[in-house]
Amino acid sequence: MYNLAVTSMDLADFSTAADLLAEVTAASPEDARAHFALADALIALNDLDAAALSLRRYLRLAPGDEQGAELILASIGKAPVPARASPAFLRDLYRRKAKNWDLVPGYFAHRHVLDAVLRHASPLFLSALDAGCGTGLSGAGFRAMTQHMTGVDVSPDMLERARAKGIYDVLNEDDLLSFLTRHPDQFDLIVSAAALIHFGDLNAVLEAVWLALRPEGTFAFTTYSYDGSDPTAFGASSYRELAKSECFAHGSAYLADLSKTCGFEICEVSEIIHEQSSTQKIPGFVAVLRKKNGVEGP
Ligand SMILES: C[S@@+](CC[C@H](N)C(=O)[O-])C[C@H]1O[C@@H](n2cnc3c(N)ncnc32)[C@H](O)[C@@H]1O
Repeated sequence: MYNLAVTSMDLADFSTAADLLAEVTAASPEDARAHFALADALIALNDLDAAALSLRRYLRLAPGDEQGAELILASIGKAPVPARASPAFLRDLYRRKAKNWDLVPGYFAHRHVLDAVLRHASPLFLSALDAGCGTGLSGAGFRAMTQHMTGVDVSPDMLERARAKGIYDVLNEDDLLSFLTRHPDQFDLIVSAAALIHFGDLNAVLEAVWLALRPEGTFAFTTYSYDGSDPTAFGASSYRELAKSECFAHGSAYLADLSKTCGFEICEVSEIIHEQSSTQKIPGFVAVLRKKNGVEGP
């Protein structure tokens, strides 16, 4: 019956899917997967109270939240926005994505970061950090203009592929926030393509980047856009597939205000197409910030 429900979902017959999944969960109340799928169907039917109930049942049965239910609850307004995706969730997500990451068509974040850095800073960079380096797509672009390049990522599977390319001088398996905090005054360039999409409030990250940069150092990163909801805020991505992958989106005014508060000069916050599929273009921002000389940090 579960498979029939999945087929109904694929055919966009959400009502049949919800009926079938309600039967599955009644017969097997411990089936976490069915509760999650039922929530999916109920969201498509805009029955958000019932969807929230199913997501909470799922979370009780699967507290590791491999499906990203917490952020979906936030995206339908039924729970506060969590601070960030959990490292355990990210390791699992990118274990599944690592194999085909370099083949994903329509993914542009790393190219936007490279182009944006070159609009505001001049190579040669002495010491660069790729925060959330993944398989090394950004690293490949910056390698020729960087003397010493470090990568950090929480996913061992993404790192394994980066390591095989031999791009980085050093690769670290670590959470980027704690890595930055432990490396003050170390880098003249920090880039982060599509990694801060997994953080909600960016305050702690920007503070840590400020500390890790040398004076006049440059920070370039991308986020998904929240401007359609509120340019001054951040929240769960309104794209359901992205919210399921624990992706957040950030408003342009939020990015600009926070950057100034954290002691950065804003070189650029520009709209981009972060990625696109055959059916949709996902909007985002590329930001380039500079650590101002002689300005007090956060
Ligand atoms: C969307 S992929 C982008 C990878 C790479 N920057 C690129 O452009 O191809 C996001 C990467 O950020 C990593 N990541 C996300 N949050 C992280 C964190 N808190 N600490 C370290 N790595 C993180 C993920 O493991 C993943 O490899």
